Amino acid sequence: MEKHFKRTLITTALPYANGPVHIGHLAGVYVPADIYARYLRLKGEEVFMIGGSDEHGVPITLLARKEGVSPQNVVDRYHGMIKKAFEDFGITFDIYSRTTSEIHYKTASDFFRVLYNKGVFIEKSSEQYYDEEAHQFLADRYITGTCPHCGNERAYGDQCESCGTSLNPTDLLDPKSAISGSVPVMRETKHWYLPLNQYEAFLRQWILEEHKEWKTNVYGQCKSWLDMGLQPRAVSRDLNWGIPVPVEGADGKVLYVWFGAPIGYISNTKELCPDNWETWWKDPETKIVHFIGKDNIVFHCIVFPAMLKAEGTYNLPQNVPANEFLNLEGNKISTSKNWAVWLHEYLEDMPGKQDVLRYVLTANAPETKDNDFTWKDFQARNNNELVAILGNFVNRALVLTGKYFDGVVPPLADLTDYDRETLNYFSHVKAEVGRLLDTFHFRDAQKEAMNLARIGNKYLADMEPWKLAKTNMPRVATVMNIALQITANLSIAFEPFLPDSMKKLTQMLNTAPLGWNRLGDTQLLKPGHTLGKAELLFEKIEDNLIQVQIQKLQNREKENEAANYRAKPVRETIYIDDFAKLDIRTGAVLDCIKVPKADKLLQFLIDDGLDKRTILSGVAAHYQPEELIGKQVCFVANLAPRKLKGVLSEGMILYAEDADGRLVAVSPETSVRPGSEVK
Ligand code: MF3
Ligand code: ZN
Repeated sequence: MEKHFKRTLITTALPYANGPVHIGHLAGVYVPADIYARYLRLKGEEVFMIGGSDEHGVPITLLARKEGVSPQNVVDRYHGMIKKAFEDFGITFDIYSRTTSEIHYKTASDFFRVLYNKGVFIEKSSEQYYDEEAHQFLADRYITGTCPHCGNERAYGDQCESCGTSLNPTDLLDPKSAISGSVPVMRETKHWYLPLNQYEAFLRQWILEEHKEWKTNVYGQCKSWLDMGLQPRAVSRDLNWGIPVPVEGADGKVLYVWFGAPIGYISNTKELCPDNWETWWKDPETKIVHFIGKDNIVFHCIVFPAMLKAEGTYNLPQNVPANEFLNLEGNKISTSKNWAVWLHEYLEDMPGKQDVLRYVLTANAPETKDNDFTWKDFQARNNNELVAILGNFVNRALVLTGKYFDGVVPPLADLTDYDRETLNYFSHVKAEVGRLLDTFHFRDAQKEAMNLARIGNKYLADMEPWKLAKTNMPRVATVMNIALQITANLSIAFEPFLPDSMKKLTQMLNTAPLGWNRLGDTQLLKPGHTLGKAELLFEKIEDNLIQVQIQKLQNREKENEAANYRAKPVRETIYIDDFAKLDIRTGAVLDCIKVPKADKLLQFLIDDGLDKRTILSGVAAHYQPEELIGKQVCFVANLAPRKLKGVLSEGMILYAEDADGRLVAVSPETSVRPGSEVK
């Protein structure tokens, strides 16, 4: 039997405040955490859901430098935006704070000092890159250079984004400081290390033996880290943005962002309930669950637990249900490349549709593998599931009750076997959805809730109350009573997933919100109870709305290509004699036609100043024949003639490629005489 805990502390990864939040954040962490929190609260359990912005670290200082503003300016801007986006999507944090709060500085410093005084850390000096112009040590991301694997000249000290290899700063060829552009030098610096190797045996036992129930992606990643062997990790950095290392002789050093950030969960709990925060972290009756994305697994399953263990008075998490990544239309979501659906933009474009996004992100959640978000799938799930199944059923139940019974719940008469079977399904839904949520299977849980609406639709379709109404009103009453009980059960089962819509639905049912314990009850609505007004829960999303979103992404793709464009490397050196062999001239286009039976070729008639000549070019995809008539072009005049499709081509017209891959003819900047040499 699973141990039952008195209360649950849900933590959610603290997003970096270096940009707004996007669908990947929601799908990976905040929607599942919120579903879990709402579910437990509906059950009447004691729950806190803790969140906040991660306001330290290189992603923030890099952006500040790029914008020429202070890191504080960056985090103030994005913290507000992030907090609002979460509120707008109904993510029910009990607290959403930030790692620049006073209480966090104190909590993180104290934590470091406790470990320091216990002699946990190793102090070690090593050589690291230093920028002599900017007078500072360089974090890995602050060093750029050439990737030794693929030759990309803009690789970072921790990774080459071109070929994906992870790097050490010393791997880079021609390293340069991203701050001053100067060549960095090696200089000695002292840091504090957490000797993870000393916790290996404990971690192996705790995770590999005692938590075999963890998700396989999480367990597997932990196992491979542990099997590779753990190394001491530096918990300080040479930076001027962060929490100062709180010991003597640590000037210019701050806590490594990943040392401080998870302590933020503790700081935020303290901020929320200063008097009894320890109950949430130290009482064995509290269950701690960390919701995170897969790139955070090592920090939450290995580093932070080792820190807590070293400190000695804290509970360890019971579970870390990490998700994999959500991609967007086939590509990795990226804040810096603006390849994302930003939550604030979504709400501008699709006002009131927060539940639709919550639904789609859960239906397609990257629970066990990376998944892809596409706008087509978004539209299909809205139209075929939310509208056609859930919305349609609820609407029929309410509208038909309005029509036949003036919106008053009718009484049950004798039940058929089919009626009983349908009613029996309620408790199955309750058990299944509960079991799936308890084990963090959010997509299956939502699917199971949707099955109840499916069954409701089928029930109404099979019973056809609109036909029965002509002959057997007591039977219609029974059918509608059952349809309404299904509806009321749906309003409970879907509350964790679609909170806005279920609020609407409870209003339509004219009931107070019902707790999870009532789910499965076949008589939630008493005969004689008056319903509220029926409204549509969801509306169909038309193609044009989706097209706008797809277009938006296509434009961004173009912008990115333009921003990343690099001309081809120059070819091998030639000498003036080589060049002199080329006879390039200008010519006037007298005529141009399509070459019959050749899709690609255009046939030009050129005045070359001596005579007229015919030249073929493979540009039929780029020009209409008449477009170039009367224009001047440049061509190679002494190229040996050759026959193409039965036509003799005497030379070669010169083109350049534009950003869209279109060929454009090269012309003299002002008009010159035909046959003029290009030299
Ligand atoms: N800021 C980190 C990220 O976005 C997550 C920090 S989670 C915490 O990947 F544990 F540090 F809080
Ligand atoms: Zn590379």
